[in-house]
Amino acid sequence: MSSSLSLFCSSKTRFSPVVDTEVMTKHILCTGGAGYIGSHTVLKLTENGFKVSIMDNLLNSSEKVLPRLQELTGKETPFFKTDMCDAEAVDKLFAEQNFDGVIHFAGLKAVGESVAKPLWYYENNLTGTLNILKAMQKHGCKRLVFSSSATVYRPCEEPIDESKPLGCTNPYGWTKFMIEQILTGFATANPSFSISILRYFNPVGAHPSGRIGENPHGPPNNLMPFVQQVAVGRRECLSVFGNDYATHDGTGVRDYIHVDDLAEGHICALEKLFTMDGGCIIHNLGSGTGYSVLDMVKAFEEASGKKIAYKIVERRAGDLGTVIADASKAKADFGWQTKRGLKEMCESAWKWQSNNPYGYEDGPSQESGSWIQSLHLVFVLNFPEQGRLGQFYHTN
Ligand code: NAD
Ligand code: WQD
Repeated sequence: MSSSLSLFCSSKTRFSPVVDTEVMTKHILCTGGAGYIGSHTVLKLTENGFKVSIMDNLLNSSEKVLPRLQELTGKETPFFKTDMCDAEAVDKLFAEQNFDGVIHFAGLKAVGESVAKPLWYYENNLTGTLNILKAMQKHGCKRLVFSSSATVYRPCEEPIDESKPLGCTNPYGWTKFMIEQILTGFATANPSFSISILRYFNPVGAHPSGRIGENPHGPPNNLMPFVQQVAVGRRECLSVFGNDYATHDGTGVRDYIHVDDLAEGHICALEKLFTMDGGCIIHNLGSGTGYSVLDMVKAFEEASGKKIAYKIVERRAGDLGTVIADASKAKADFGWQTKRGLKEMCESAWKWQSNNPYGYEDGPSQESGSWIQSLHLVFVLNFPEQGRLGQFYHTN
């Protein structure tokens, strides 16, 4: 594992090879490990010699990811279908298993939905996290990596480093903000616990095999899943939210990060925790490079050979023109930086989406009268340069 880890935790890391060998046998629980980022991280952890278990209630994921992970790793990942809000079940799991660390991905994550259903978001994300922390404390599991988000930063159009002021604009963001406060307080009160908070920017792409990827339930909220669904004919047209921002083409600029780079960032953070005697560390995971909506559309068209129909519409409420990470702290502390560029992000996303037009699910059922959609998918996937049949139905 030392040699493969060093591929993404560079020689500038502070870890000793001795620690690497110890890490190899560690048992890591990935809450939310059946989801998009979790499944890619489970794969990398397994490939790097960790023993991994998944705890997920499958609210926004599918059990069908498990055989795919087994196919890719050659190993079965133990799966516990558990709701993290069920304190008793979480405690039982920690009592029965001997976890050395937790990567806590589980949570609800849709900004718009959090505005409509704030109590659900606060209850799920906060109660679930408290249950996990209590079980970790009770059963002596002292290392945690937490999935936070760039959404915790106050609006800021300069490259964002970890010292920038915090402040959120929606309940989803506040759950991340509050969990960060809980974790820093918990680490102060329990000095033998080591905690890593990772603030992700915009994760995209998929494993290069095309066997695992992002599988949104319902209409995608994020740009790239929407673009991908236009490409396979599930959606007619992308709405580009505003072209009057102060950016090179007027459309919003974001810091997109390949999900495999993100997954590797977790392993570097985890490895760092195993060298610490306690404390809470915070890092951005981003590339430091920004691309606009139209840059992304163009890059995806090139990768897929598809034309992406789009129309310019009003700005989306709450959006900023530019959001880019300053990811230099992760490089300095873990030796981690992104390795994969825009082409790999788009090619892998297309491989996943074109091989799995409906994600892990089967296509629309015949009873719902959607046979014409299936026909359209076959057409679009087989005749990439041909016209679209989108006008015959509307799925958005
Ligand atoms: P995802 O929805 O694919 O994965 C989250 C997983 O958590 C799902 O499998 C879901 O079933 C599970 N889950 C939710 N509530 C649960 C509960 N009560 N008990 C057990 N499992 C539960 O999302 P993702 O994109 O993989 O995101 C993973 C984490 O990263 C989330 O915490 C998210 O907020 C955070 N994050 C995501 C992004 C992004 O753009 N994808 C950006 C920043 C941060
Ligand atoms: C990217 C760009 C849009 C959709 C969100 C969350 C954030 C984090 C990551 C979890 C913007 C434009 C989008 C579309 C578009 N998630 N866009 N048409 O808004 O940077 O961040 O996901 O923590 O919390 O807020 O990502 O993918 O939604 O948007 O034009 O249909 O694409 O305006 O410029 P965002 P996004």
